Amino acid sequence: MSTLPRAVRIVEVGPRDGLQNESKIIPTEKKAEFISLLALSGLKDIEIASFVHPKWVPQLADADALISHLRPYPDVRYSALVPNMKGLDRAIASGLKRIAVFTAASETFNRKNINMGVAESIAVFKPVVERAAKENISVRGYVSTCFVCPYEGPIAKERVADVTKALFDMGVDEVSIGDTIGAATPKDVESTGGHLISQNPIDKLAMHFHDTYGMAVANVYQSLQMGFTIFDSSAGGLGGCPYAPGASGNIATEDLLYLLDRLGIQTGVSLAAVRRASRFIATQLGRALPSRVLQTSIGEVVH
Ligand code: HMG
Ligand code: MG
Repeated sequence: MSTLPRAVRIVEVGPRDGLQNESKIIPTEKKAEFISLLALSGLKDIEIASFVHPKWVPQLADADALISHLRPYPDVRYSALVPNMKGLDRAIASGLKRIAVFTAASETFNRKNINMGVAESIAVFKPVVERAAKENISVRGYVSTCFVCPYEGPIAKERVADVTKALFDMGVDEVSIGDTIGAATPKDVESTGGHLISQNPIDKLAMHFHDTYGMAVANVYQSLQMGFTIFDSSAGGLGGCPYAPGASGNIATEDLLYLLDRLGIQTGVSLAAVRRASRFIATQLGRALPSRVLQTSIGEVVH
């Protein structure tokens, strides 16, 4: 068996990727409480909101107000999505020190998601990333639909590599590889992931799996065997993407942690504490969250 990494960094995207697709809008103070519970669990990277058009994603329309409600924790980095210069203006005004720009490997998806072609979005991001650097704001990049697009079908790995390169060339410090509709299998991860690590430092690539087809844990395990060490996840398995019809939430942070803990891979995150955060937000939403590990009580005995 190949050697697995000793430690993994988890980027918690539940307050953004999760809540953006929930039909119920959560009050700002409750979001802040949820984020505090996540920070107290040991998660160090938490994506908390989006500075996008409030009409496009009304669930996150309170991004500016939310940031003033957040408690600072040592070593915790809060970040938010930014699609253009207007979004960066808002991020700067909020005092946030990390943002993420987001594009796709599929032209059609990108137009539906941010009303821009892929090349156009890269041209829009370039001055955003340059100005962010001057403001001491670090930038992550996302590539959506890296395996399958809901409109265009399977996506060529060369296309994913081109968009990833364009993001690194403009100065982002990490690129998250999105399986937006959760359709990838370990074979796809081996092929596209393998192509990407032949061209980029593996410690600058994050894997972002949605769990629509129940493949996310298998895809993480495949990625671990290839040496990937950064994974995005959502507490409880919240959410999805409003512009990817039928896509369900990210891999649940609990499911990811259970796997990593049992494999002996360090994360610095407490599964029991993430469960508390998920139970809190599930109560606010008035629905059970899909995470298998959150639902079972067996894990309570193991941990
Ligand atoms: P647009 O309509 O083309 O924007 O939307 P525009 O530049 O033509 O401007 C139109 C109006 O929007 C103007 O206002 C602008 O000021 C305003 P008006 O003059 O009409 O009053 N505007 C803004 N307002 C607030 N904040 C802004 C902003 N920008 C323009 N930043 C836009 C383009 C990108 C804004 C829009 O398409 C948008 O907001 N899209 C957001 C889509 C989104 O958030 N999708 C979900 C996140 S991506 C995801 O989930 C995938 C990921 O998880 C990875 C994966 O799973 O694959 C990351
Ligand atoms: Mg996503």
